[in-house]
This record gives sequence, structure tokens and C-alpha cells, in this order.
Amino acid sequence: MPITVTADGTEFHLHNRQLSYIFGVLKNGQLGQLYYGKPLRPRASFAHLGQIERRSNTVQYFDDDSAFSPALIRHEYPMFGCGDFRYPAFDVRLENGSRITNFTFHGYHITKGKAKLPGLPATHAAGAAEATTLDILLIDTAIQADLHLYYTIFEQAGAIARSARFVNRGSYPLVLASALSASIDLPDADYVMVQTSGSWARERHLHERPLVPGVQSISSTRYASSPQHNPLLVLRRPETTETSGSVYGFSLIYSGNFLAQAEVDDYRVCRVSIGINPFGFSWHLAPGADFQTPEALFVYSDKGLTGMSFSFYDICRHHLMCGKWSQRERPILLNTWEALHFHYDDASVMALAESASRLGIELFVLDDGWFGRRDSDKSSLGDWFTNFKKFPRGITSLAERIRALGLRFGLWIEPEMISQDSDLYRAHPDWMIRTPGRRASMARHQYVLDCSRQVIIDYLYGRIAALIRAAKLAYVKWDMNRYITEAYSATLPSDRQAELGHRYMLGVYQLFDRLTRHFPDILFESCASGGGRFDFGMLHYTPQIWTSDDTDAIERLSIQFGSSLAYPPVAMGAHVSAVPNKQTGRLAPLETRAAVAYFGAFGYELDVTALSPEDELAIKRQILFYKANRRLIQFGDFYRLESPYAATGNIISWMVVSPDQKEALAMRVQVLNHPNPPLARLYFRGLRADFPYKLSNCSDILYGDELMNAGVLLRKPKSTSLGQSLDFFSWMIRLKAAVSD
Ligand code: DGJ
Repeated sequence: MPITVTADGTEFHLHNRQLSYIFGVLKNGQLGQLYYGKPLRPRASFAHLGQIERRSNTVQYFDDDSAFSPALIRHEYPMFGCGDFRYPAFDVRLENGSRITNFTFHGYHITKGKAKLPGLPATHAAGAAEATTLDILLIDTAIQADLHLYYTIFEQAGAIARSARFVNRGSYPLVLASALSASIDLPDADYVMVQTSGSWARERHLHERPLVPGVQSISSTRYASSPQHNPLLVLRRPETTETSGSVYGFSLIYSGNFLAQAEVDDYRVCRVSIGINPFGFSWHLAPGADFQTPEALFVYSDKGLTGMSFSFYDICRHHLMCGKWSQRERPILLNTWEALHFHYDDASVMALAESASRLGIELFVLDDGWFGRRDSDKSSLGDWFTNFKKFPRGITSLAERIRALGLRFGLWIEPEMISQDSDLYRAHPDWMIRTPGRRASMARHQYVLDCSRQVIIDYLYGRIAALIRAAKLAYVKWDMNRYITEAYSATLPSDRQAELGHRYMLGVYQLFDRLTRHFPDILFESCASGGGRFDFGMLHYTPQIWTSDDTDAIERLSIQFGSSLAYPPVAMGAHVSAVPNKQTGRLAPLETRAAVAYFGAFGYELDVTALSPEDELAIKRQILFYKANRRLIQFGDFYRLESPYAATGNIISWMVVSPDQKEALAMRVQVLNHPNPPLARLYFRGLRADFPYKLSNCSDILYGDELMNAGVLLRKPKSTSLGQSLDFFSWMIRLKAAVSD
């Protein structure tokens, strides 16, 4: 039983082989956090872990107990206003204007498995044995409001999923000014906070800082999770490394505005809170209504950052991504964007498809420009009908002819957007998000549709479904290229305008839910100007996401390395593009461009009709190589070896190992070539110590323990032609265990 409850029903111990999570009911009826971390042996009670040491100048809860102060308690889902001055998990405005609540314990319920969260992406469990869920009921009797705290513990992953639900059973409306998904008070603050932050084209770069007193946070106010900060907050001990030591990872299964923060108080207790960003949010809770928060993921590992990443990967692959594609090998695709942009017609697209088919590519993706009168980014978003000027025979005919070449066919759409120059805008100028009486800001010449409105979701569903049926699509790339400004919905009453951000996400999720359920064979890839919405909310519906608009292999090392902290490589769209690279002008060799892109959902994004004979041959070989190693790469265990964020950052490597440890593939890149460089040894990870491995390009058989502890010397690159640069050189090493199956 992964949830143990004391006989009196007041203390809860969630445990599996990787973690213990313990909390209990305090003497004032509220919940106190007792422990979260490495598994603890069961015992009758852990109440002693919540021991409070009296301190002066604190507010006491009971007149006769000077130690029991809200400021000194480690809370489970803290409230504000009665002596705990740290930031609370929620903020409820009552009918009389007060914000004081008192939710106390009224019972619990344990169920096998995991229920869906209404309208929201969330973790799931295939069978009752895979997960257990605890529902804690707290009630504020003065206002007749219920608060459910949900905890799901998974049998096989070092993770807990948490969320909260408020129910107004009273006769007056309540206003939720803040309703975070989860909060936890860790007993000390001796941690380094790790976050993955950046911007467009340089998403999810690793940043670290030791915790200091006060609040340190990451957040989004863009109505998308954003490339600026990913909804992932990691706390590692100062001595924690890739492979050893304690680490906590907190993430949110949500794609809109979020807040994740660590608040270190005056006693060096660290409160971690995560959920919808309270800034710009409030929710009107009418009598009888309820509000469900998005789900938060809490991961703990005592095996360093790799252990944490493995738990996130497990959750993502087995309990988060939905549909067939979560377990299926992803096709090698050719995307038209960097090759053609908007400038194509039936003949040029067919020429590209013919070359793609000859190379062995499996899926052809027609990106932006195939619809309405879209010849630039200035028009037609919303008009999801064939551009007959470009395709006189229609998209259906194009799709059929592409399929006849042995390719699957997919299309790009950007459903949440509308161009002013579009038939949709001319018919429904009121469908966009804008504030009456204010100018409406343009971004990329487009506006955002009000996806909080059911009529718009229904329209989009009908249009996209018709398109999917007509062109028999196998794949859809779902883009989103601007953020919401002048947020206001034409149909929400004034006291509900601050609900727009969350209602927008609920509308988008509903659309994804309907489409993925009705078209289960379609592979959806999401995108937001690259990786602007790379989060577990999107990954629930779209099992791969276009990682970044930056396709430069060297830049991608940092982006994919940072992304891998929480997201498995199979989730990362990664393409080989042309040189000079469009974002950086860099000239990385074709082998290195492929070496980096292999470790993702692999594809090409260049004009394959204009390849030199050598490049054509090389690409054919790459495609064969990827097909032969696809299962290993997409579903193996991913290890980060040498970091681009290390002091020198010039040598970067990573590898994948098959679950049975019989096969592995490692990649190493040197950014700049230096004369007479240090001797470079590569130390592998994840191999079986007693397996003898055969390495590509090496006749020796080496045991796993040697490979991991003594490493192998990688010869420095030799230039093969005069003037050839050895900057951006890469090595690929294939390992195969010489053991019988
Ligand atoms: C932004 C995406 O990230 C690109 O891959 C491409 O699809 C363009 N949008 C098309 O407008």
C-alpha cells in the first residue's frame, strides 16, 4: 500500500521505492508538512518531525501554547492572515471583503488509480496498480467552502502529482484571487535553485543560484508558459551532481501564466509554491461552483540531476502523454519552412517531396503558407482553406500525390490566431482578444482569437476536423506565434475578466482534447515560435514539440541539454537545417548537425532538391542510421555527460542506453578546435559493468566498468582537406554488448 495512514486517520505517508512524503493534521485542524525526500522506514507516527521550537516575536495560535505559531509551522497548503507572513497557496476574498479563512481537516479518501482532472491535462494511470490517489478534504465551516487536496503517488516513478479543488457550498459568491496547485515547506534552505530560462531561439538555458532569504521566482505573464522561463523549478543540494545527491524538481502541467517560487524565511525554512500566476488572475466562485487547479509534479531523487530527469521522463512517457504516439516510434520528417518559407507552389512542393522520398524520409510537412492568400506573415490566419493560387488542384490532391510517393503527409496550422486581413476577421471582427476603447497591439501582424469562447472553439474544431478528413492528415504542426496583450473577453462580465487567461487555456485544451480523441492516429507537434510553450500541459496532447526556431547545431546543444532536465529527447523536435545557419550564420558540418538532431524527434528542414551528391549520400546514410537506432534513441535512457554550461563549455556530450543495457549511442561535440588540445577521455554512463561492449571504430572489446570508470580516449580530429575547419567537430560512438540475447 503506497499510502499509509495512522490508525487515527490523521497522518499520511505516501511512499514508494524512491521517496517518502509525509504530512499530518495539526492540533488546530490544519495540515502540517512532516517530511519529503528519501524513503523512510515506516513507523507508527512521524509527528515528531513537525516539532516546533518556540521563538519570540511570533504570533501564537493558542493562548496557552506559545510555541504553536503559524510562522513556525511547516504548512501543507498555507493560508494567510493569522500569523504566517510568508506567501500563501491561495487567497479567497469573502462576501464581506475579508480574506481570512480557516480550512481544517474533515476526512480523507484513498482510491486506486488516478481520476481525470476536468478540462485540464494531467497525469494518468493505465491500471489501478500503477498509482494511488489520496483526496484530503478541508472545510471552512464559516463560509461553507470545501478544499480538496489531491495527491497521486506512482508505483514506478519518483514523483507525486498534486492539485487542489475549491468548492463553494455556501450561498454567497467567493473570489479566488490566487489558487496555486501546491506548496511545500522544506525544513532548510541549503539549496541551489536551478531554472531553465532564455528567450526566443535560445530557450531553456540552465541558470543556477544559491537560495537567499526572500522570494526567488520564475513566472510567466504572457498567457503562455513562455521561452523566458520554463515552468520548472529545481532545488539541488550544493554538493549534488549529475549522478549523486539529493534534488527536488517541481513542475506544472500547464501552458499558461505560471508562478514557481522558493521563499526562504527568517528561520531558513524554504517554501516552494507552484501554480497559476496570481498576477492578473482571479476566479469568481458562485454558490455551487468549483475550481480545479492545474496539476503540479513533485519529483525527488537521491541520484542527482540524472535521477530527477529519469523520474520526469517516466512520468512524461508513461503517465502524461496520451494516445498511441506516446509509445510509438516517431517518423523522420521533412519540414518545408526553412527551405521554402512562404514561397512555393504545387510544383516546388512536389519536387521537394520527390527528393524527400528518394532520401528515405517518412513524413512530409507542409509548413506555413498553404492556406487563404498567405504569401507572407501579413494575412490569412484563420482562413484554413486551400490557397488555390498555389495549389490549383487543392491540398487534398497534393496530399494524395505525396502519399503516392510513399510519404505520410502533414500540415502546419496556427489555430489560435487571426490576421486582420482574413475572411475570418472580416466575418467576425469581434472574435479577437482586445480591450474596448484601447488600441490593440499587433505582433507578427496578427491578433489572438478569444479561445475562452465556446463558439470559437467549436468553429475551430469543425474547420480543423474537416481539413484533417479532407487531406487525410497523418500529422499536424500546431503553431502559436504571439502572446496575448490587451487581455479582455467580449463575453465575460466585468468581474470575470481576470479569468480570461485560464479560460483561454481551458478552451485550447478542450480543442486539443477533442481533436486527439477523434483523430487518435494523428501525430500532433506543438510549437510556439519554436519552444515558447514547451511544457507538460502541451506534452499531454502533443507528444513532441518543436524545441526551438534556432536550428543551429551548436546552439541546440545548450537548448536540448537544458530541455533534457525535465523533458525526454523523444519530445524534442530536432531538425538538420542548411548552412550557413539561418539564425546564426554558422557553418557546422553536416555530420555534426545530424549528430545533435539525432537525439530528438529527428527530421530535416532544408532544400533537399539542391543537395550536392556527397550531401545526398550522407543524408541517405544518416536516415538509415537513424532508422536503425530510432528505438534506442527515442525510448532509451538519456544521460547528460559533459555540459555546455561547464566552466569551459567547449566539449559537450550525451548518450542513450537501451533499457536492457545491451546497446548505447554516445555523441560528443567540440565547439572550437584548439591546437594541441588536452587529451579527451569520454566516460560513459548507464552501462552494465559486467557486459563486454564492442565500440564502433574500435576493434577492442571493453567492459562496462572500464568504459564508465576508465573511459576511452577520443582521438583529436584530423583535417582531411586543406582549409577545412575542425570547429564544431563531432564524434558518434555506437556501443553493442557482445552478449547473447
Ligand atoms: C514559427 C515556427 O517556429 C516555425 O517553425 C515556422 O512554423 C513558422 N512559425 C511559420 O510561420
